[in-house]
Amino acid sequence: SFFAAEAKIVEHTFHVGNLTQRRLCEEKVITAVNGQFPGPTIEVNEGDTLVVNVINESPYNMTIHWHGIFQLRSAWADGPNMITQCPIRPGNSYVYKFNVTGQEGTLWWHSHVSVLRATVYGALIIRPRGGLKDCPFPEPDHEVPILLGEWWKADVVELDNQAFLRGQGFNSSDAYTINGQPGDLYNCSRKHTYKLKVVSGKTYLLRIINAALNNQLFFKIAGHNFTVVAVDASYTKPYKTDVVVVSPGQTVDVLMVADAAPGNYYMAASPYISVGPQGPPFVNISATGIVEYLPVDDSSAPVMPSMPPFNDTPTAHRFFTNLTGLLKPGKPTVPHRVHEKMFFTVGLGRNPCQPSQTLCNRTRQAISASMNNVSFEFPTTVSLLEAHFKGANGVYRRDFPRRPRVFDYVNATGTLPLALQTTLKGTRVRTVKYNATVEIVLQNTAFVGIENHPMHLHGFNFFVVAQGFGNYNATAAKRSFNLVDPQVRNTIGVPTGGWAVIRFVANNPGVWFMHCHLDAHLEFGLAMAFEVENGPTADTSLPPPPPDFPTC
Ligand code: C2O
Repeated sequence: SFFAAEAKIVEHTFHVGNLTQRRLCEEKVITAVNGQFPGPTIEVNEGDTLVVNVINESPYNMTIHWHGIFQLRSAWADGPNMITQCPIRPGNSYVYKFNVTGQEGTLWWHSHVSVLRATVYGALIIRPRGGLKDCPFPEPDHEVPILLGEWWKADVVELDNQAFLRGQGFNSSDAYTINGQPGDLYNCSRKHTYKLKVVSGKTYLLRIINAALNNQLFFKIAGHNFTVVAVDASYTKPYKTDVVVVSPGQTVDVLMVADAAPGNYYMAASPYISVGPQGPPFVNISATGIVEYLPVDDSSAPVMPSMPPFNDTPTAHRFFTNLTGLLKPGKPTVPHRVHEKMFFTVGLGRNPCQPSQTLCNRTRQAISASMNNVSFEFPTTVSLLEAHFKGANGVYRRDFPRRPRVFDYVNATGTLPLALQTTLKGTRVRTVKYNATVEIVLQNTAFVGIENHPMHLHGFNFFVVAQGFGNYNATAAKRSFNLVDPQVRNTIGVPTGGWAVIRFVANNPGVWFMHCHLDAHLEFGLAMAFEVENGPTADTSLPPPPPDFPTC
């Protein structure tokens, strides 16, 4: 367009503190930003600089992560606790400042300390420089953030502490939520049910974000179809579907035309969970909202969509594998030549109970999780990034293993000797040269339970080259590689009992966390970090952090 807006500086102040909220007939104090739940929506244009002053008035250590933002040469603004910064202590503040360059679409922000992202989250919308009309799809009449989440009646930090003592995770929330509300299938929730009022014939861009701690979700609206136009702030070829599947961390942008008969229609989010041998440890009630055609007619009861069963892996897999990327001129294409090939297992394991885990069952042991059999341990005295600036110094090791110890990953559920389920512990990173092209095979393991793991890479988008079930077989898998128009993501749901192949270019110097976005699994250690070296010039190197960078 001729008059694209100039790049500007967008400033926000986040006061993080206590907020009392009533849900499911009970009152509870949560941690929230600016007295809002979900938190404020941040809106920028591509190329803008975002400056957010985070003032921690909560009783907890705090960080904010800008999920999916590249943080090109600003790794210290990324936010994962003890990875790129020490936490902002209660009473302290930190200004996150970074450019939002080279990406457009829907992302989000969330706390990256313990389980606080349960309530500390919000949408981050990046419009093209020239506005929505420059998107590669018909300009919508309205845009609507749809934040999917979970609600616990109990205090989440307390629940997390209890889970640690037992050596178990806490999977089960008391409700799913749409824009913070469980909807009227839950008690005491009718009055506050989220409502989207629509006008016949208009087009709505729904920016769907899965902010749930531990559940993948199906999302539908009765009587309406969607056209998927982007995932994880990367455009896709238009894909028509009546169901959206979204893993924690992921976003899906869809166009919805209000083309049904005027009336009321439920939107619903329900769990997609592939269960382990122990059965479903989750709520199986849909969160609901209501699409109301204007003028509103309250006399007609909303129509309910029929949701897929919770374990409907075929539906999930169809959605995830049918998406293709929309290549834009000037945008990077999938690397055909790979410098660094990596193979990472992702899955659950066991560890002897620690003495402090006083409620842990010593026979069954504590649940752990790992990548290549290493359970990630967070450093305690200095962040990985600060150690990286100063040269590791015993804070982490650079010998992240090339291979795990077991070679049948998906058929051994429950039968593997305990010794082989036991994971190593450590803070180990993989160092990568600047601009190397990296291919990672992510192999799901089923040693303890069989699940889909949404793996999130900080600092980069990656191309999803292939996905499949079973043990990865390079020769067979190569035949299904999409090196033409793969979807681009920052979070990939590695199929239940299967694998995924991703590629990215390591063009962003710094320390970048990679982890399962099921919060419980992150706490169990399903994580590792990349250390990307500086390039040859000043503008391919990571500058030093700003003076208010929180140290420990
Ligand atoms: Cu959205 Cu490291 O996370």
